[in-house]
Amino acid sequence: MTSAIKLLQILDWDSPRQNARLREELAAGLLQPQAAIAPKFFYDALGSRLFEAITELPEYYPTRTEAAIFDEHLPEIRRALGADFSLIDLGCGSCAKAGRLFHAGVLPARYVAVDISVDFLRDSLQNLKRELPAIDMTGLGLDFTDELRLPDDLPPERRMFFYPGSSIGNFSPHEAHAFLKRLAGLMDCSGGLLIGVDLIKDKALLDAAYDDPLGVTAAFNRNLLRHVNARLEADFSIADWQHVAFFNEAEARIEMHLEARRALDASWPAGTGRAIRRFVAGERIHTENSYKYSPQGFRTLLAEAGFAEIRMWTDPRGWFGVFFARQGNTRT
Ligand code: AVJ
Repeated sequence: MTSAIKLLQILDWDSPRQNARLREELAAGLLQPQAAIAPKFFYDALGSRLFEAITELPEYYPTRTEAAIFDEHLPEIRRALGADFSLIDLGCGSCAKAGRLFHAGVLPARYVAVDISVDFLRDSLQNLKRELPAIDMTGLGLDFTDELRLPDDLPPERRMFFYPGSSIGNFSPHEAHAFLKRLAGLMDCSGGLLIGVDLIKDKALLDAAYDDPLGVTAAFNRNLLRHVNARLEADFSIADWQHVAFFNEAEARIEMHLEARRALDASWPAGTGRAIRRFVAGERIHTENSYKYSPQGFRTLLAEAGFAEIRMWTDPRGWFGVFFARQGNTRT
């Protein structure tokens, strides 16, 4: 037992190769007729902290509702996970959710924390390791929406993937199906998935959760442009961009956009000369979708992706669902 963590930094955002790829991705998204930036760009060091602040807002119910479900149903969740398992935490952020489980006595043999925000991951994991030195801990700094290479020494048995917080909502249902199928392919039939999913509910509640009066979600959204300015050496004037968020009922998703308050240009250095994007007043950059599911809709998604023995726990108001499912492939 040692107090050291292993950190496998696969995604080094600042390595010249990654940086070039991310810059290309950003530029391509901005130059589309409907400009868009992928939500993974929210999570630079400040963005990760702003998201932590969002989870404290009274209007943002998902984090605390999910935590209450974990508390309420801990014995059943513990039984579902079993013993001597590996917990693979997808997008661990502050590692607070896993930490709560551990402190409640749900202890994995191994903990693999995956996050795109490498520096934040290192700090969070080091703190957790100090509190719980007996758990073997590995940090994986990578964009798991792109690739998910698990550590070579991770046993294939009893891999429990932990995907809380309804981050699955950032995928479209079609992408979510493909992602869940990939996860099912990374475990054998002794493995499982513990996943938190935000449920469809009244539009007014959803709108308020993503457009809080304090403006924290607005800051989180607009911080994206700070990150883009730094990464792309772009010159977005942040004060000219307004936070827009609403529940699109037809698509069952929250949409977040940044809207230009006036006609403006943004530019950045490109291979030959500068690239310029002109925006008209009121034009939007699409920054996030956050899909919501019905309990039955998500069950079907899990089953179609290769999971079985699906169960769901929810809160008394039915706002959020915690699902556990086993890999349903009987061939392995
Ligand atoms: C981290 C994707 C789960 O969709 O609720 C919170 C991100 N965006 N407020 C969500 C988010 C605006 C969050 N997820």
